[in-house]
Amino acid sequence: MQRLNQQFDLIRQSATVAMADRILALKASGKSIIGLQMGDPDFGTHPAIVDAALKAMQDGLTHYGPSRGYADLRTAVAKKLIRDEGVTYDPTSEILITHGGIHAYYLAMQSILTAGDDVLIPDPSWATHSNMVIMLRGNVNRVPAPADNGFIPHFDSWLKALTPKTRAIVLNYPSNPTGAYPSREYLQKLQDFAAKHDLWIVSDEVYGSLYYEERPTSAAAIEGAKERTLLVNSLSKSYAMTGWRVGFLAAPQHVIENALKAGQNSITCVAPFIQKAAAFALTDPAIQNVAAEMRSAYAHRRELVLRLSHELEAEKIKVIPPQGAFYFFLDLRALKMASVEMCERILDEMGVGLVPGSAFGEQGEGFIRMAIAASDEDVEAGFRKIVEWAEKQ
Ligand SMILES: Cc1ncc(COP(=O)(O)O)c(C=O)c1O
Repeated sequence: MQRLNQQFDLIRQSATVAMADRILALKASGKSIIGLQMGDPDFGTHPAIVDAALKAMQDGLTHYGPSRGYADLRTAVAKKLIRDEGVTYDPTSEILITHGGIHAYYLAMQSILTAGDDVLIPDPSWATHSNMVIMLRGNVNRVPAPADNGFIPHFDSWLKALTPKTRAIVLNYPSNPTGAYPSREYLQKLQDFAAKHDLWIVSDEVYGSLYYEERPTSAAAIEGAKERTLLVNSLSKSYAMTGWRVGFLAAPQHVIENALKAGQNSITCVAPFIQKAAAFALTDPAIQNVAAEMRSAYAHRRELVLRLSHELEAEKIKVIPPQGAFYFFLDLRALKMASVEMCERILDEMGVGLVPGSAFGEQGEGFIRMAIAASDEDVEAGFRKIVEWAEKQ
C-alpha cells in the first residue's frame, strides 16, 4: 500500500469533535442533550455584520482578493491592537489576515519552525497547539501548568523543559481550557527567558477580550517582546463569528513575509466579502457595544455557576473560578476516575455534553471542561446535573 504521512499517526482525533459526533448520534436517536462541550458562542453574528458581507457580495467582491488582506481591514486590526493591547503594528508590513485564529497559528508555526525543532507548550492546553507542531515535524515538550499554581507553570518548569533545540514557546492566555492568565510580571520574566535563549513566543490571544478580572496583558505588550512575538487572534469568539473563518497574525515583518508565502500557497486569500464584514465588525461603534454585552452575558453565567456551586455544596467537584475565556475546568479528581469515562457517563446518564480534561494533556486528567457559551438555562441545568451525578459516585 502507498505510504501516508506518518506524522498523522502521532495525532489523536480531537476529543471535542469526537464528543460532538457522539452527541449528534444521541440526538438523532431522540435523546435531549444539554451541549456544554463546544467553544462556540450561543449568540448569533450581529445582523449588521451579515449585511456588510451581503453588501460586499452585491458590490461584486466575489473574486480573489489581496492575499495579505485588504488595507482597511489591516488598519482596523492595527487600531484594535493599539486600543486593546497598547501595541503598535504597521498595517502595511506587520499584519496578515488569516482564515481564523487556527490558520493564523498554522502560518505562524510554519513560518518559524524547521523539522526537528522543539517547542515548549504548557499542559493543559488546546490540543491544536501541540498537533500543529507535530504536523510540521517538530517536537513538543510539555511544561506542567498545575491546578495548584492557578494553571500557570512554575517558572523553573520552563527551564527544565528547555533543550538546545528549543525554538519557540506557545502561550494561550486566557487559556482554553482553564481560563487562566498570568501577571504582567510573569510575562516579563518569560520574555527575558525567551530573549536569553533566543526563542520565539507564539501567543494565541483569541480569548483576549473575554476576561472577568484585571485585563490580561498581551504577550506582545511586554517590554522588548514585540520583535520575538507572533500574535494570533481572530473575530471568532469576541464577535460570535466562528463560522466566518477570519482572524489575523501580527508579527515582525520577516515573519509576516514567510506567513504570506504560506498563505498564498495554501488558501490564496480570505474571501473578500468576509474581510469587509470583519473590517465593519472591528470598527463599527455599535458592534463594540454588542461585543461588550456578550462579555457581560458570559460574566453573568460564570457568576451563576459560582453561586450554584456554593448553594449545592458540591463536595466532589472543586470549582475553580476562571479568570477569562468561557470555560470552567472542573476538578473531579476526588472521584479517581478517568476523565473520558466521566464524560461518557455524564453524557449517557445525565444527557450533558462535556470534554474530558485529558484531551488537553496529562495535567488535565481528572478534570472536565464545561463551556458557558450556552444559554443561562442550559448552563444552570447542565451544571446541576453534573453536580448531581458527581455526588452520587
Ligand atoms: C485557544 C484557541 N485558539 C484558537 C481557536 C480557533 O479559533 P478560530 O475559530 O479563530 O480559528 C480556538 C477555538 O476553539 C481556541 O480555543
